Amino acid sequence: MAAAVVRGGTEILSSVVQGQVEVHEPYGGVVPELASRDHVRCVSSVVEAALAQAGIPSHELSAIAVTAGPGLIGSLLVGLSFGKALAYRLGVPMVGVHHLKGHLASAELADPSLRAPYIGLLVSGGHTALYRIEAGAAPRLLGETRDDAVGEAFDKVAKLLDLGFPGGPAVSAAAESGDAAAVRFPRPMVDRAGFDFSFSGLKTAVALEVERRAECGALGAADIADIAASFEAAAIEVLVSRARQALRELGIGRLAVVGGVAANRRLRAEMANAAAEDGFEVSFPPPALCTDNAAMIAAAGSQLLARGDRHGLDLNSFSRGSGPL
Ligand code: KG4
Ligand code: ZN
Repeated sequence: MAAAVVRGGTEILSSVVQGQVEVHEPYGGVVPELASRDHVRCVSSVVEAALAQAGIPSHELSAIAVTAGPGLIGSLLVGLSFGKALAYRLGVPMVGVHHLKGHLASAELADPSLRAPYIGLLVSGGHTALYRIEAGAAPRLLGETRDDAVGEAFDKVAKLLDLGFPGGPAVSAAAESGDAAAVRFPRPMVDRAGFDFSFSGLKTAVALEVERRAECGALGAADIADIAASFEAAAIEVLVSRARQALRELGIGRLAVVGGVAANRRLRAEMANAAAEDGFEVSFPPPALCTDNAAMIAAAGSQLLARGDRHGLDLNSFSRGSGPL
């Protein structure tokens, strides 16, 4: 659950993220019912904390932006109902935001010098996609994953290696002491035309390698580190190579990487190397704006409000696709 106060769509006055790791950790993954119950428990205090940190009383808010989807419907409903009630009480407009548009908005929020046109690479737990971003136009999807998202692959590999939850940072930490060349995992789709991705074959290759090594006894810390590092290298090589290809084929010189996996240190380093080699500019939000946060939703909402978008109290949340947005 997260809440933020953003001024003028660009200035973050506060950004509070209340994680749920303790709630879900015992189950090794997110349990939807527990997530929504925790949202009910926390929503008021998280919003109050965001207002207090910003030093803004609620009656000074000029609008409410709220995530309408896609995501876990129970959690979304809690936020949306709270947002509606707050907007109604304050008599201010409310706008529903698409979660992915929020991630894309984090790029310009973090780097005001970023100017369209640029390529957006969105890498999260639910999505892996490349967009062409043009000023004043909706993001144009160039390609996306045909199966698992890259963050999902990190989470599944963390499970296979018994590294706990949440998986991405755990795999990345384990990889630090490993040899990225220990196992040559596949780099799915990199030789194919177009901009689509695929990560399920890579995940299966990791599962088979874990199985193969387990036949000779329990995996040691060195096995785990080597597999984590080799997996991370493969996944990141795919992302870097696809982004390079998009920039080259579309003749665009700027890239913004957003979403939870954009917090990954190896991705940041390898993309910076590619940028230096190929001569493009790359922008990564700070890690706290890569993983889910409310400041990016406020920024995206403020763009929508600026062009006159508003939603009524009949707005519904949606679990997949674009819903009413
Ligand atoms: O954007 P996000 O916070 O939530 C979604 O919209 O999904 O992304 C979460 C995903 C998870 O799969 C998580 O494992 C991954 O981002 N992630 C990372 C890192 N930090 C978060 N993956 C690799 N390295 C990281 N440092
Ligand atoms: Zn997200």
